[in-house]
Amino acid sequence: MKEYLVSKSYTFNKDFISIIDELPLWAAPFGLKLLEKLKIGRNLKVLDIGSGTGFPLLEIAQRLGETSVIYGIDPWLDVLNRAQLKIANYRIKNAAVISGYAEELPFSKSYFDVIVSNNGINNVEDLNKTISECRRVSKKGAQFLFTMNLDKSMMEFYNVLKDELEKESDSISLDRLEKHIYEKRRPLSEIKMILNENHFEVKEVIEDKFYLRFADATTMFNHSFIKYWFLDNWKKIAPVRNTELIFDRVKSRLNSLAEEQGELKLSIPFAVINCTKL
Ligand SMILES: C[S@@+](CC[C@H](N)C(=O)[O-])C[C@H]1O[C@@H](n2cnc3c(N)ncnc32)[C@H](O)[C@@H]1O
Repeated sequence: MKEYLVSKSYTFNKDFISIIDELPLWAAPFGLKLLEKLKIGRNLKVLDIGSGTGFPLLEIAQRLGETSVIYGIDPWLDVLNRAQLKIANYRIKNAAVISGYAEELPFSKSYFDVIVSNNGINNVEDLNKTISECRRVSKKGAQFLFTMNLDKSMMEFYNVLKDELEKESDSISLDRLEKHIYEKRRPLSEIKMILNENHFEVKEVIEDKFYLRFADATTMFNHSFIKYWFLDNWKKIAPVRNTELIFDRVKSRLNSLAEEQGELKLSIPFAVINCTKL
């Protein structure tokens, strides 16, 4: 019997169940838009930068099918192992993950037809080097499609934190705050400039926004997503001697805001950037 017609009931073991979530909730709004714009075809060589636990890598592998091949690159070994477990359990034959950095892509010149990245490009150390590497490994006419959250992300929180630091006249922490935002969320105009310098024509930029909604700031600070992915870096902005005081003030102001508004909303503006290699 053809492989796709064989019953898959045997796959519902412990490993399989442990990998059922295919797309992290945070990544979904960006990722769904990216998939809408992805070039679909046959015989494509595709690269996913910062492929994490396997999104959009594995979705793209399955949508394009076995005439195409997709590589995911990420320096984080534990997430690569999880992606590998998914590849094995889903028996995906046209995807592979590689441990490495976007700044030094282990591929030859003009290799890829498509390069994608869902919230990966904005997390690299050196954006200029990464985009220049994307230029080197992409073919003429290749699609370079990536998403990133924008500099006004979570501004409801950052504005209050900034205000509290200003009240303390703490210029060092204020500088750290600006640097923190700039490093992860470079202005769109700057990204476009780097793309142009690297022979990528920006065909389309789709801007969108979603909200993370919480009952109040106490709830927000205790949410696992905030606690494990954001709070440590936020804490490093405020001065060590005053961290608790500043954060207590921020929390209390955001709680008052939530009281007035009936909820605390953090906005996440993001962009899908669709380019062609000239
Ligand atoms: C926000 S996660 C996105 C993961 C996945 N693409 C998704 O949509 O869920 C960013 C990923 O970029 C990876 N990353 C960080 N620095 C990188 C670099 N220099 N080169 C490649 N990937 C990098 C991280 O390890 C992480 O897995």
